[in-house]
Amino acid sequence: MVRFGLLGAGRIGKLHGGNIAKAPNATLVAVADIDNKAAEALAGSTGAEARSPDDILGAGDIDAVLIGTSTDTHADYIERAVQAGKAVLCEKPVDLDSKRIEACLKVVDAAQKPLMIGFNRRFDPNFASLKKRIDAGAVGKVEMVTVISRDPGPPPVSYIERSGGLYRDMMIHDFDMARFLLGEEPVVIHAVGSVLVDPEIGKAGDVDTAMVMMRTASGKLCQISCSRRATYGYDQRIEVHGSGGMIRAGNIHETTVETATKDGFATDPVLNFFLERYMQAYRDELAAFIDAIETGKAPSPSGHDGLMAQRLADAATQSWKTGQPVAL
Ligand SMILES: NC(=O)c1ccc[n+]([C@@H]2O[C@H](COP(=O)([O-])OP(=O)(O)OC[C@H]3O[C@@H](n4cnc5c(N)ncnc54)[C@H](O)[C@@H]3O)[C@@H](O)[C@H]2O)c1
Repeated sequence: MVRFGLLGAGRIGKLHGGNIAKAPNATLVAVADIDNKAAEALAGSTGAEARSPDDILGAGDIDAVLIGTSTDTHADYIERAVQAGKAVLCEKPVDLDSKRIEACLKVVDAAQKPLMIGFNRRFDPNFASLKKRIDAGAVGKVEMVTVISRDPGPPPVSYIERSGGLYRDMMIHDFDMARFLLGEEPVVIHAVGSVLVDPEIGKAGDVDTAMVMMRTASGKLCQISCSRRATYGYDQRIEVHGSGGMIRAGNIHETTVETATKDGFATDPVLNFFLERYMQAYRDELAAFIDAIETGKAPSPSGHDGLMAQRLADAATQSWKTGQPVAL
């Protein structure tokens, strides 16, 4: 039984808190948030205690800390948690600055405590199955990976201003997925971006529509297509083309009901956003973290995966700003 402390009782904290409370081999001991009311409400609904972050990090009755606080707190909390002897599952990103991530990972290495990063999409049952099949040679040698990732609508501009920009905030998940599927590191990246959804996003110094192309040392190619808006809901698709064929995973619809008339075939909308689309992925991510702690296996995705995705996001941002490809 792994005893958890949860830092952060916001959007993602509530989701993780609920999953920990329901997991058969975990118990949620305590929840902390600088917003005490939020911590108390989540603690109340999950049978945990509300404590301060310091009390959670120093607690003798907690083995693992799940960090779901705002991004700018992650690196500090990771360091403090591993130094206090806790295993850590931290939401992406570790930090918006790669140098800060490198420093944080040195502290993790010295403490020799497990750190897993919340790249939950690797645990989506469809994407995980696709990955297993390409590893088993279902389409031969992987040659091209295409990731399509579009949100139903943009977040408030106040969020975008502090997000680090689309490549670091949103495409970071897709960079991790690209690395996961390519099985090797990109060596060159070229990003383009536009403001097509909301001019206010442009005024905040960001883009809302972006594409990235990457090449690995052996010549595999990857293309990522991101938008802050999709009128038909959360659009999450992957296609891998290989020497022996093509494999793809599509969107999940609210129901499997299909209506056919003379006008064609109609289906229900796709699942609205990440909380719905990736519900099972978050559960499986937590189960993998608990399994790593119980078996002593190194957790994956690791802190190194967090760093490599961030470096791609930094390079993409640079490429977009300069209009030039960036070598990695
Ligand atoms: N993996 C995913 O799919 C996914 C999805 C959403 C968010 N996230 C990540 O999760 C993190 C939180 O995002 P969110 O949408 O839940 O934000 P949120 O604003 O809803 O929640 C963040 C919470 O952290 C609390 N907080 C801030 N600083 C704190 C501190 N120093 N100590 C304790 N609590 C503190 C805030 O009061 C707030 O309740 C972000 O890093 C985000 O990138 C990941």
